[in-house]
Amino acid sequence: MALLRVVDRDGVEHEVEGRTGLKVMENLRELDYGVAAICGGMCSCATCHVYVDPEWKSRLPAMMSDERELLAELSHYQEGSRLSCQIEFTPELAGLRVRIAPDE
Ligand code: FES
Repeated sequence: MALLRVVDRDGVEHEVEGRTGLKVMENLRELDYGVAAICGGMCSCATCHVYVDPEWKSRLPAMMSDERELLAELSHYQEGSRLSCQIEFTPELAGLRVRIAPDE
């Protein structure tokens, strides 16, 4: 378990105990204010879209081309956008702060 900081769509910040070894998305979809993750992590739905705080951006695994291409199609794409199903929540990411992106 490790701290995961989540800002919901109303701008309220929550601190939760995230399970390491799972994807960030798998932690977020268990929350009432989390993500839908409709495709289950297949990198095809973008309903797990989050904005990662700038300070954490460089500590995350690099984007693969399929994630980059899907994000580029989103109307709410911006600096810090990531698909949370593509990020494993490792102990090194304890304290990670993400903001849930608006629905497309
Ligand atoms: S859960 Fe569908 S793209 Fe991440």
